[in-house]
Parts: sequence; structure tokens; C-alpha cells
Amino acid sequence: MNENTQMKIGLLYFSATGNTEKIARVIEDSLKNLGCMVDIVDITPLVSRKAGLDCSPYDALILGAPVHSWRIPRVVREWILNLSGEGKKCALFLTYGGFQIHPAHYTTQQLVQSRGFKVVSSAEFLAFHTFNIGGWKAMEGRPDDSDFKVAREYAEKVYSRFSGEDPNLVGELEKTTHPEELLDQIEEFRFRIVTQLPTRNGADCCMCLACEKFCPTGAINATTGETNQGRCITCLGCVYRCPDGVLVVNDMSPSWEYKLKGEQISVAEMKKKRSRIYL
Ligand SMILES: Cc1cc2nc3c(=O)[nH]c(=O)nc-3n(C[C@H](O)[C@H](O)[C@H](O)COP(=O)(O)O)c2cc1C
Ligand code: SF4
Ligand code: SF4
Repeated sequence: MNENTQMKIGLLYFSATGNTEKIARVIEDSLKNLGCMVDIVDITPLVSRKAGLDCSPYDALILGAPVHSWRIPRVVREWILNLSGEGKKCALFLTYGGFQIHPAHYTTQQLVQSRGFKVVSSAEFLAFHTFNIGGWKAMEGRPDDSDFKVAREYAEKVYSRFSGEDPNLVGELEKTTHPEELLDQIEEFRFRIVTQLPTRNGADCCMCLACEKFCPTGAINATTGETNQGRCITCLGCVYRCPDGVLVVNDMSPSWEYKLKGEQISVAEMKKKRSRIYL
């Protein structure tokens, strides 16, 4: 890239409950301060993903997504399959609720590379766990200033790799030993058993349609207040946005202690975790 040419970056993110968007905005601001042109694109809405993405106007891309059951959400994985990287550089970032994450970097890198991109880096940011909406208590108050500081540092590293000042690609990421089928089962288990599907349980509401308008998979019907099991990814964006508070998932608080035990971690240990960058 000619050093007099302004770098044009496409910053794509999926965010159902706002965490990934917060980090994306910090990265956007930092890159603009470094003199880049940044097109920030929210790929959460179904219509936005359906439109696909023409990568040709961009010198490089940044892709941000939450971790959903050790991988990025299924609908984002499906969307990536339609991209064509043509050798362009791509930086990744993930937000997660303080439990397991490592296969998500690797599996996303593999997917993005399979579409012809060169992955230069990845990063992970602590953020409140979506299931706190149902009664968990993971990473409350995050992302906070400590995470935003890492996001600003990450933007600088990404800039340096995109510009060629640092010519390296991302180093080796922790591989998953789990086959794809097992990861699919883990996804199914969490969707169907831990959270269950959002419902209004027949309660009246103001019919603002916010749930239906937001749903990134077209899974919820505002009129019936029920959710299509095959489509729903349990992102809980509809529950989060319901102004009447009538849209609910099952009470997940009884599974909180069980979850900590299963993950062999305490709340104090979780709080010690830091957002980090992989170069
Ligand atoms: C279906 C689902 C599965 C999740 N799985 C994990 C997980 O495996 N590990 C983890 O630490 N957090 C997990 N989370 C928490 C999210 O990664 C975290 O809250 C994320 O920041 C949400 O991003 P958003 O607000 O941009 O949608 C999960 C959340 C959802 C909705
Ligand atoms: S219906 Fe499912 S996919 Fe749609 S917003 Fe609600 S939780 Fe997310
Ligand atoms: S968001 Fe809540 S209040 Fe609005 S239509 Fe959906 S269930 Fe009803």
C-alpha cells in the first residue's frame, strides 16, 4: 500500500446484546485517529447478512463476534462462507463471558482463511455473559476501561500489520481437539437445555414489535410471542430489548453454581482474567 494512500478498512461485527459493538466502536475510533477510513457494518440484522459483502472497496477487514458455545455464532459462520477474501488481510476479535473460548480463535481463523483471507491477528475481550439476563453472574460490568484499553492497543497492532510495517501474520492459535460434530452437540445442548427458547408465555404486551424487528434469524413471532426452535440461536437480543419485560427465557440461576463447578472456576478467578491480543 502506498504510504500516501488512506487505508480503507471494513469493520464488520455481530452483536446481539451490545458487547461486541462496544469493542468495535473503540477499535473504529482508534483506527480513525490513526488516519484510516473505516466503514463500520453491523451484520447482526438478517437483512444486512443477506445483502452479503463486497470486499473489493476495502484494503483489509476486521471481523468481530461474540463466542457462542466455543465458536462464533452459527449465522456468522454461515455468512463468512459467502465471502471472498482474494488474499486480503483480516483481523479478528471476539467477546466472551469469561468461560471457555480458545477453540473460537482457531475455528474462526480456519474459516476465514478458507475464504481466501490472510489472518493477521486475533483478540479476546471479557464482557458480561448473555446468560446473566437469565440469572447468571459472569463478568458483570464488563467490558470496562481495562478492556477498552486493550481494544485501543489492538487497533494499533492491527494497523501496523495492515500497513505492512509489521509484515507478520497471526502466530499459532490454540487448536481444538474437538471434532465439528461435538462442537455442534455442545451448541445444541446449550441452546435447548440451558437457556431454552424465549417466549412471552401468552402474556399481553404493547406489541411494539421490537423483538421481531431485531431478531437476527427471523425466529420470533411478535404476535404469538413464540420462537422457532430451528432458527433461534438463543442470542437473547429479543429478551434484552423487550420494553415490557414479558419476553423471558427460563430461570437460569439454579444452573449458575453448577456451571462454575463444571468449568472448575470461581467468580474471583474469572475476575482475574484479562482481555488479550494474539499476534
Ligand atoms: C448462546 C450463547 C453461548 C455462549 N457461549 C459462551 C461460551 O462458550 N463461553 C463464554 O465465555 N461466553 C459465552 N457466551 C457469552 C457471550 O460470548 C458474551 O456475553 C458476548 O460478549 C455477547 O456478545 P454481544 O453482547 O455482542 O452479543 C455465550 C452467549 C450466548 C448467547
Ligand atoms: S428469537 Fe432467538 S435468535 Fe431471535 S432475537 Fe430472540 S434469542 Fe435471538
Ligand atoms: S418486544 Fe416485548 S413488548 Fe415488544 S412486541 Fe416483543 S414481546 Fe411485545
